Amino acid sequence: MWSKKFVRIVKFVMPCFLLALLFIYACPPEIARPEKQWQLHYPDSWSEPVYKFDKNNKLTKAGFELGRTLFYDRRLSRNGTISCGSCHQQFAAFAHIDHPTSHGIDNKLGTRNTPPLFNLNWQPAFFWDGAVNHLEVQPISPMQNPVEMDETLANVVDKVAGDTAYKRLFKAAYGDEKVNSQRMLKALAQFMGMMVSCNSKYDKVMRKEIGAEFTQSEANGLVIFRNKCASCHKEPLFTDYTYRNNGLTPKFKTDSGRAVITKQPGDIYKFRVPSLRNLKYTWPYMHDGRFNELEQVLDHYAGEKFRSATMDPAMQMRLYLTATERKDLLAFLGTLNDKEFVKDERFKDLTGQTLQSDHPHSFDKK
Ligand code: HEC
Ligand code: HEC
Repeated sequence: MWSKKFVRIVKFVMPCFLLALLFIYACPPEIARPEKQWQLHYPDSWSEPVYKFDKNNKLTKAGFELGRTLFYDRRLSRNGTISCGSCHQQFAAFAHIDHPTSHGIDNKLGTRNTPPLFNLNWQPAFFWDGAVNHLEVQPISPMQNPVEMDETLANVVDKVAGDTAYKRLFKAAYGDEKVNSQRMLKALAQFMGMMVSCNSKYDKVMRKEIGAEFTQSEANGLVIFRNKCASCHKEPLFTDYTYRNNGLTPKFKTDSGRAVITKQPGDIYKFRVPSLRNLKYTWPYMHDGRFNELEQVLDHYAGEKFRSATMDPAMQMRLYLTATERKDLLAFLGTLNDKEFVKDERFKDLTGQTLQSDHPHSFDKK
């Protein structure tokens, strides 16, 4: 009697079990194990990120999507004209192409070049002078900056809370519809933190992927790079995140760089060493966007510098390169461009489609 029942149960359970197994093996891994897609992936050779998606801010698809919607929402600015994505454009590796300094609300210009956004979870501090040291706090600054978005955080929360479409997004991300600044900032951090750029040719060669090989010129360029540039632009992120004065003649005399924050004379004209990844997309270059071409950057390093007390000792010498060396170095820098990153579908602006907004004006096309 009992054993008959047992046989019946087994007869029923076994096919279910086999079907489940089949499903797991036949599916692409993302479908069978959806959580895999929502982890931070980066090369084994990189250090642990500084900012982790741990229990304080668990990375989820819904959190990321909320962050993306906020990032591209122009209502985050006072008059609904400027979103984060207006200045941080994906095709420019989230820098602002062709704009030497930031171009914000009412056409106001700032004094600094919009930096690209990628590999932010490894960055110990943000802005050219390291003014902010937490990814979740960082977005408050552009929202409230009078020449960027010129809005208060409280107003932004009110606008977002008044939008029915956002209620759905907050519920999906956090389990209920409550809108507050903390949730907004964490969602933005999820979206921006997922922007990992690690699929350039350089990365593929370093991972010894099949078919990935430097040309002779690129390989020569890497040697030159390691001799002359890598002491500051350290591999694999191509910056050591220190603040240094590389001898540029000051353009905005009032912008003393790192000293704005530390008030130390020894920090005057020091700016954070920028990454050299994705240079093809991020021009113009330097904290004030003074150079449009990498050739001009090399001319600067090869030439006479603006000598001041804080100029980096490594800049005492002219970093002179022969024509062939220049060609090779530029070829190597070209291997740091990550086309997959600037075309990654996950980071695209979908606001017009995903959000049935109560405020249609804020989604008008540029
Ligand atoms: C008007 C243009 C503009 C807008 C709008 C803007 N940014 Fe920025 N962003 C900048 C500039 C310029 C800097 C560098 C400022 C500095 O160094 O003083 C910057 C820096 C950053 C950084 C630090 C990057 C680094 O490498 O240090 C992050 C992250 C960032 N912005 C995210 C955002 C987010 C999120 C928003 C929307 C809430 C936003 N930005 C809106 C221009 C803009
Ligand atoms: C002493 C440290 C140091 C060395 C050595 C150095 N750099 Fe830099 N580099 C910097 C700093 C600091 C900046 C940012 C300066 C600023 O904007 O005020 C910078 C900026 C750049 C930029 C602009 C990037 C951007 O996004 O705006 C490029 C390109 C660059 N360096 C390439 C090189 C190359 C190529 C070499 C070797 C020939 C080199 N650097 C050597 C410190 C250094």
